[in-house]
Amino acid sequence: MKQYTLAHRKDFSGITLNPDAPQPAIQSPTEVLIKINALSLNARDLQIATGSYPAPHDIPENLVPVSDAAGEVIECGSKVNLWKEGDKVCTVVFQGHDQDEDVQYHTMIRGLGGAINGVAQEYFVVDQSQLVAMPAHMTYEEGSTLTIAAATAWSSLYGHHPKLKAGDTCLCLGSGGVSLFAAQIALNAGAKVIITSSSDKKIAEVKRLLRPLVRSASPDELLQTINYNSIPDWDQEVKKLTGGKGVDFTIEISGRATLGKSIRSTRSGGLVAISGYLSDYAELDPKIKEEGKLQHHGGCQFDAVNARGNFVGNKQQFMDMNRAFELGGVRPVVDKVFEFDQLKEAYDYLQSAKHIGKVVVKVGA
Ligand SMILES: NC(=O)c1ccc[n+]([C@@H]2O[C@H](COP(=O)([O-])OP(=O)(O)OC[C@H]3O[C@@H](n4cnc5c(N)ncnc54)[C@H](OP(=O)(O)O)[C@@H]3O)[C@@H](O)[C@H]2O)c1
Repeated sequence: MKQYTLAHRKDFSGITLNPDAPQPAIQSPTEVLIKINALSLNARDLQIATGSYPAPHDIPENLVPVSDAAGEVIECGSKVNLWKEGDKVCTVVFQGHDQDEDVQYHTMIRGLGGAINGVAQEYFVVDQSQLVAMPAHMTYEEGSTLTIAAATAWSSLYGHHPKLKAGDTCLCLGSGGVSLFAAQIALNAGAKVIITSSSDKKIAEVKRLLRPLVRSASPDELLQTINYNSIPDWDQEVKKLTGGKGVDFTIEISGRATLGKSIRSTRSGGLVAISGYLSDYAELDPKIKEEGKLQHHGGCQFDAVNARGNFVGNKQQFMDMNRAFELGGVRPVVDKVFEFDQLKEAYDYLQSAKHIGKVVVKVGA
């Protein structure tokens, strides 16, 4: 079978295709063999391939990369009772993170495509407990996008206190995987959304893509947008759009370049759900460094805002989310689908940040 490994982790040139890797076989009676039909990429995959993933564990030599996939069960061990041949399934990234509120070290060291081999291969063997059913209305390409980005967005809004309610307002930073899923989850739940993005072109496309979920007589009120390049003080704009109050939830994916403004955009008692750190390892201009003074002109303490780290969702939350997606007919936004032989190009494309939503790779014929 075809299988990718990371020959080194300096840059994407380490991504190496082996066309004749041995097909994995079931080793224990509770394992299943999956034919992987699609995988999707996350910022985490870029970080792992370039040696910048800030994980507190080793990454093995010649790792099979990527955690997120959807596929078909083609063989079941003798004691498998949760699945049958032909079932459509999605992978769970942190093996064993079933119910815990937060990812623990013992599950982090069982992270697919990070601490242990992942899914950039045609076949994959896994314990039956570490899969979830793919939403029935989705294609494999769509189903492959859920494992990290969607589950992180879901746990940002439902995994902790406070939890999202209809009528709340959710601020989503950027149009990448986590943020766009958060926008879809919020709109599906009857909440308002404000999305920031880097360009008017992306904003127009985001509005078009999210239109099916904007079920309102006044769509411009339910989905609002801010170009953070043309409006650098976007926190003040968020305050204006919310009548001076601030949003109930902010999906924070960038880290030190935006955290101060995210806190100032959020209402007293609201939640800044911090999952991302896209700017944390880049050079920042001195003006942005000022964002470090989080207590000036409003902040966590003065405005009593909750800021909480968030690390994917557990398996139960993944299943809850899939049920909500099925009932609401929510379909992931797939920006571009690459062939399996083009995995490196897919990494380059995600790195270029031209995408909206998710970048997917088809596996097999
Ligand atoms: N904690 C967790 O469990 C968890 C899970 C998933 C991801 N993450 C982390 O969350 C971050 C995002 O991941 P992702 O997979 O969603 O990434 P992604 O799909 O690659 O998102 C990239 C997009 O983020 C937006 N962006 C970048 N810098 C921004 C800024 N300063 N302000 C606003 N938007 C900005 C850009 O969209 P626009 O051009 O539209 O602005 C960019 O295209 C990464 O740091 C990732 O490691 C953490």
